Amino acid sequence: MADAEMIEPIRVVGFPGSIREPSYTRMAVEIALRGAQEAGAETQLLDLRNYRLSLLEEEWDKRDSSPNVLKLRRDIQSAHGIILGTPEYHGSFSGIIKYAIDLMGFDEFEGKLIGLVGVAGGKLGASESLNSLRSVGRALHAWVVPLQVSIPEAWRKFSTDGTLKDPQLEERLLDVGKQVTRFAKLHHSPQFEEFVHQWETAPENPAGSIHKRG
Ligand SMILES: Cc1cc2nc3c(=O)[nH]c(=O)nc-3n(C[C@H](O)[C@H](O)[C@H](O)COP(=O)(O)O)c2cc1C
Repeated sequence: MADAEMIEPIRVVGFPGSIREPSYTRMAVEIALRGAQEAGAETQLLDLRNYRLSLLEEEWDKRDSSPNVLKLRRDIQSAHGIILGTPEYHGSFSGIIKYAIDLMGFDEFEGKLIGLVGVAGGKLGASESLNSLRSVGRALHAWVVPLQVSIPEAWRKFSTDGTLKDPQLEERLLDVGKQVTRFAKLHHSPQFEEFVHQWETAPENPAGSIHKRG
């Protein structure tokens, strides 16, 4: 598919679920975003520290009026693809990523492409977080791409400047961003729109009616 046929440029945002400084999650998401950029996407890192969200109980009622929540919602809504990053915390994803996601819903995530990356301090990696986040993506009717990256012992794997010491791991992170971008392009191509139209207007079970005639 030629890029000229695209309706609008593909926008992929990175959304790390750690506000620590420095954060290996943020470093991993930044590399995946670079992959998305290499595949032709416009990219942006959404840093939760910049949204200054307060407690859910307070914000949920105000999610249509709170400037901080509205900014986050608009930034996610305008994306075609989202790289969700999380640290492994006690065998699951971080509270703040869940907290931020819970301020949103189908308006922000439905039909979007999601790529997952996780980091962990321990040897077992972040697979538990990634499996749980995959379920969250499904519940939000998003398309979570098959490729994902879990980085065990992240403190060993990254240099202080945010680069990875293992080129294969870096390649895999780049590939997550590329896969999200490619699937997002596919979802927004005129051919896909035509396919959905054909699907929705196809006669119900045409083979069944042939059998009846026979
Ligand atoms: C509250 C808490 C719970 C953690 N639980 C786990 C865990 O279950 N497994 C693990 O491998 N590392 C665990 N860690 C280590 C973090 O995954 C590790 O420090 C990671 O680098 C944090 O991500 P960040 O650098 O992006 O902030 C935990 C850290 C904290 C603060």
